[in-house]
Amino acid sequence: MHNYEIIPITEKHIEGFRAAVDSVAREHKYLAFLEGPPLEMSRAYVLENLQNNSPHFVAISEGKVIGWCDIAPLDRPVFVHSGTLGIGVLASYRGQGIGEALIRTALDQAKSIGLTRVELTVRENNKTAIMLYKKLGFVIEGLHRNAVRIGTEYENHISMALLFE
Ligand SMILES: CC(C)(COP(=O)(O)OP(=O)(O)OC[C@H]1O[C@@H](n2cnc3c(N)ncnc32)[C@H](O)[C@@H]1OP(=O)(O)O)[C@@H](O)C(=O)NCCC(=O)NCCS
Repeated sequence: MHNYEIIPITEKHIEGFRAAVDSVAREHKYLAFLEGPPLEMSRAYVLENLQNNSPHFVAISEGKVIGWCDIAPLDRPVFVHSGTLGIGVLASYRGQGIGEALIRTALDQAKSIGLTRVELTVRENNKTAIMLYKKLGFVIEGLHRNAVRIGTEYENHISMALLFE
């Protein structure tokens, strides 16, 4: 078991956050991109979340970013009560409760800033993430057939959401 702490992201974590996203993206099994975004894009994303007080937490172990969870509010007027959730934990740190701790922390802040709906899409083969989301009360809302294609392989996407009472 690793020692870790969950803390709100700050500017000094931007490179570590990007590196963690890059590592999980390069597994090609879970995320919607195949490598991490350019650093400047990660920086802009984090700064926007900080400015908007949007939930964005990182898990830190021995000074390194080993996971993240963010919930970015949608920007159209009729959607501002909703946020889109993203999460990942580095492969060697999975299965120790870190993902669940990250998502619970992010959901608490989402509630406290007034979001009433948190939504996401998850690849159909990602049983671990689907189990985690169901455990926290997310409900499956839809199936996006062949939404993902990597090389010649297609995969369905599942949309899930959690509503706060
Ligand atoms: C999904 C992910 C964030 C979960 O984080 P984690 O730290 O491994 O998960 P935790 O140890 O906190 O486990 C929490 C719950 O997840 C589910 N889970 C975790 N590992 C699992 C496994 N091997 N099989 C099935 N369910 C599993 C369970 O519901 C578990 O609750 P339980 O311990 O009561 O059974 C992590 O596996 C990950 O980073 N995956 C790759 C990136 C990704 O899939 N991101 C989401 C894209 S939509």
